[in-house]
Amino acid sequence: MLVLGGRSEIGLAVARKLVDGERKFVLAARRSGDLDDEEASLRRAGASEVARVEFDADDVARHREVLDAVVAEHGPLETVVVAFGILGDQERAERDAAHAMAVIHTDYVAHVSILTELANLLRAQGSGQLVVFSSVAGVRVRRANYVYGSAKAGLDGFASGLADALHGSGVRLLLVRPGFVIGRMTEGMSPAPFSSTPEQVATATVRALRRGRGEVWVPPVLRPVFFLMRLLPRAIWRRMPR
Ligand SMILES: NC(=O)c1ccc[n+]([C@@H]2O[C@H](COP(=O)([O-])OP(=O)(O)OC[C@H]3O[C@@H](n4cnc5c(N)ncnc54)[C@H](OP(=O)(O)O)[C@@H]3O)[C@@H](O)[C@H]2O)c1
Repeated sequence: MLVLGGRSEIGLAVARKLVDGERKFVLAARRSGDLDDEEASLRRAGASEVARVEFDADDVARHREVLDAVVAEHGPLETVVVAFGILGDQERAERDAAHAMAVIHTDYVAHVSILTELANLLRAQGSGQLVVFSSVAGVRVRRANYVYGSAKAGLDGFASGLADALHGSGVRLLLVRPGFVIGRMTEGMSPAPFSSTPEQVATATVRALRRGRGEVWVPPVLRPVFFLMRLLPRAIWRRMPR
């Protein structure tokens, strides 16, 4: 099992729930020498083999090389959790085009690149499962976080289409749509209604993986809530908080 963004709270929580006797884990992250806590948390959960690999998602030119090196060293990929991402600073991104581009690059462009490479690799293997984190922020983009939201909207569309393209190939893609998650990424922000924790997102993700589902909303009530949100008039929607 490979976690891309090996320091991600949600990605690690998913990995811990997938520990079983035989599964090997690879944590792919920037500053891969500095993953002692993450490795220890997997070992405490029962993992016996945890490897690390240096991975900068923004360095898209090296994506295939990194994936090939993981397969060459550790064998075929069974489950790949694509868990890297940044929230960015919306206020700054509204004025600083370079910052807006950085958010879009990590949260959308780098995902398009790595998911395309992963799809090629897993198709050739004839098996495997991908976990992708979208967000309700992308279901209907809000004025208050439209840069991050637009990246998630793009990613949601891309991953949905890719899941359909993979149908029948032996490779599955699970698209996870969490709401506000109380954790490192949202530190200092007041939780939105229907918030969850990384553990709750991970529990829902693993249950959906085991059931072979293609999509999961966390918590599930967000699906009908966002169905209605789409119908709200623009004049109200533009005042919605993040
Ligand atoms: N938290 C939420 O409220 C929430 C809600 C909905 C969806 N999601 C999505 O769920 C996914 C996981 O989020 P999380 O809550 O687990 O966040 P997190 O704990 O902040 O983890 C995100 C990880 O992405 C890594 N990362 C960022 N840019 C990278 C790059 N260029 N190369 C490699 N790694 C990079 C960070 O690594 P470093 O340690 O090197 O910075 C960080 O460990 C993200 O896609 C996020 O957008 C989160």
